[in-house]
Amino acid sequence: QGMAAGGGAVGAGYVGGPTCAVIALKCPQIEVNIVDLSQTRIDAWNSEDFSIPIYEPGLVDVVRQARGRNLFFTTEVDRCIKEADLIFVSVNTPTKKSGVGAGFAADLKCVIIILFPYVLLVCALIHVFLSQFISPSYIELATRRIAAVATSSKIVVEKSTVPCRTAESMRTILEANSKNGCRFDILSNPEFLAEGTAVNDLLYPDRVLIGSLQTPEGLAASESLSDVYANWVPKEQILTVGLWSSELSKLAANAMLAQRISSINALSAICEATGANIDEVAHAVGFDSRIGPKFLKASVGFGGSCFQKDILNLVYLSESLHLPEVAAYWRQVVELNEYQKRRFSKTVVDTLFNTITGKRIAVLGFAFKADTGDTRESAAITLIRDFLSERAQVRIYDPKVEHSQIWQDLQEAEPHLSLAEIQKQVTICPSAFDACSDAEAVVVATEWKEFRDIDWKAIYDNMEKPAFVFDGRLLLDADKLRQIGFRVKVIGRGEGL
Ligand code: NAD
Ligand code: UDX
Repeated sequence: QGMAAGGGAVGAGYVGGPTCAVIALKCPQIEVNIVDLSQTRIDAWNSEDFSIPIYEPGLVDVVRQARGRNLFFTTEVDRCIKEADLIFVSVNTPTKKSGVGAGFAADLKCVIIILFPYVLLVCALIHVFLSQFISPSYIELATRRIAAVATSSKIVVEKSTVPCRTAESMRTILEANSKNGCRFDILSNPEFLAEGTAVNDLLYPDRVLIGSLQTPEGLAASESLSDVYANWVPKEQILTVGLWSSELSKLAANAMLAQRISSINALSAICEATGANIDEVAHAVGFDSRIGPKFLKASVGFGGSCFQKDILNLVYLSESLHLPEVAAYWRQVVELNEYQKRRFSKTVVDTLFNTITGKRIAVLGFAFKADTGDTRESAAITLIRDFLSERAQVRIYDPKVEHSQIWQDLQEAEPHLSLAEIQKQVTICPSAFDACSDAEAVVVATEWKEFRDIDWKAIYDNMEKPAFVFDGRLLLDADKLRQIGFRVKVIGRGEGL
């Protein structure tokens, strides 16, 4: 396939952008073009001052080194498809909002990343799969586009998280539309990066997973992709498996990570009721080498674009396969997460003497985790929605999230309120200090490090008394805050205020 000659990527989102930028960085012999339908997004990636459209530590440096050398951003989808030998399809896979499978099944929009000699990228909308549940026109749209434009054989790689056996649907469509003897090999290559640490995760992945049909052609395609990663990933960390195992492994990994958080959050409720300390429990439990210390941080609830969606996908798959007990098992991980958010809001209301109507609540952090500007499924949105329904005055500060994004998220969370009505109750502030001024309570919703380091004494002096702090991230030094005079409630700690 001549992989050493070039490469490309398409899909300039949270996955496509960083992934392909790192491929370009590590494979200077491969020309990588990233294609997206959004001109605005591509313009931002190409901006002279490197104001790229997503915030990821270290990403600007990677783009700075590779852009214009062997990394290009473009909206020329067809040219890229034509020139590519290797196409990464990164699928935007939100949960379906209507129709059969609504609330659970994947609604697959597709971004295609194409690699190749002179490179490529295509982001196409697919809206795929589980074709018996979802309009086939979307997957046909993107997949037929590849088949229609292609004048040579391609390796098509699923980069996004997809339901098990999506590759089969894609292959059926590609093969039925293939012309001039073009052949299409489909690979599954799920992405395991986490936002906030994407560049590091891509440079030093725990593993790269490649799934292929176990035919000579499938195995050869798998080796071509493996050769790309071998430019910087040790061979023993490149795992090659069957297609369906690869697709399911991605859902399984996210489900098991989220399950750990729901487990520790369930225990945090017991801690609060008994006086045990969730950090101590997590530490003691995590010391068991069979369990391990990571992903045991209690919180106000997990967010992000992946966990809930991928678990619901697994639930839907289980139900479709007539495995109701399996479906119920995984569904509980999401239900516990919802419970945790509700429980936290209720603690705030109960503690503030059973009403927050008209009271000023500062919410520090709006992103779903620190070191990202991404707000998808952020727990902060649910908390603020609860505070608004209690008629509180909410003051928000986040160091990275765009104000327009906050307004959009709150409008989606409160569709029965107009923007003007929301703005009567919500203020977006330029600093944590500003958000906390005259407030009766501070809620830490995202674990931004800067919240630990702010001048809490000055904040205290500027707040209504008694001044409350609710730490939803186990971030702050509660004892120090109490010495200042705050009344403090921390997730998973039973001690009094
Ligand atoms: P994203 O929304 O950030 O990026 C999607 C991109 O696709 C956007 O730039 C959008 O403009 C573009 N796009 C949408 N429709 C298009 C179309 N019809 N044609 C061309 N471009 C189009 O999404 P993401 O976070 O990058 O996620 C993509 C996939 O990767 C999902 O399946 C997700 O589950 C998976 N994934 C995400 C993460 C993560 O941390 N975000 C990690 C691993 C896997
Ligand atoms: C996740 C997976 O980690 C990654 O492998 C996959 O590719 C995409 O989904 P991401 O959603 O970007 O990554 O971030 P992650 O670090 O997993 O955090 C998800 C949510 O869980 C965040 O809201 C985070 O604050 C929360 N979390 C994480 C906890 O509450 N406790 C923890 O111990 C870890």
